[in-house]
Amino acid sequence: MRSFPLEFELKKEVLFYPARPGAPTGDILEIGPGRGDFMLNAAAQCPDKKIVAIDLDKGRYYKLVPRIERKGLTNVLLMQGNARVVLPRIFPSETFEKAYVLFPDPWPKRRHIPHRLMSVEFMTILAGLLKVGGELYCATDFWPYASWVADNAGQIPILQSLGAPYFAAADEIPLYNATYYEKKWRDDGRAIYYLRYKRR
Ligand SMILES: C[S@@+](CC[C@H](N)C(=O)[O-])C[C@H]1O[C@@H](n2cnc3c(N)ncnc32)[C@H](O)[C@@H]1O
Repeated sequence: MRSFPLEFELKKEVLFYPARPGAPTGDILEIGPGRGDFMLNAAAQCPDKKIVAIDLDKGRYYKLVPRIERKGLTNVLLMQGNARVVLPRIFPSETFEKAYVLFPDPWPKRRHIPHRLMSVEFMTILAGLLKVGGELYCATDFWPYASWVADNAGQIPILQSLGAPYFAAADEIPLYNATYYEKKWRDDGRAIYYLRYKRR
């Protein structure tokens, strides 16, 4: 994978649905919705909350837009772009009540670890986007990723772990519903690790 300077990322177009999103606000953030299982369910369950979701993949974005429309959901802001670059430039600090990162790409090879999303730098950005008392959730089937996230969170003073450092059942995660990847890995017999943090 090639890497590009930040200026290159900054010049990329960001797609929005709806096209004129209005003020940069939101209550619940999801990064990497994929097929949208969590995002669509959370939006339907919480009609009084605004769900913001961002995915890097244009194909996924263009498939999600008609799914949002078919369900008649008016409380979703969907974006296509790189969360690392886009989120801190659009949303003020202390915006969200909850943030979810479910089954981030594991990048299992050692040399690919720099591509992993939940770095200390990005988790620091996410923590800052949460309101004080807000919560960050992550789920993964890849134990080295779970333990890496736990180590990274330990370096962020404003994040307090509510797991030990991760736990085995999703019932401690509000609004949780199994995503496409969770179902896929469970069917393969894999264990799932859930992580939960509170913003101090
Ligand atoms: C393995 S999929 C998981 C999808 C879904 N959360 C699930 O559990 O089924 C990871 C998703 O994260 C997205 N993603 C990866 N890096 C990203 C980034 N920097 N910003 C936004 N989305 C990203 C990918 O495009 C993909 O849709």
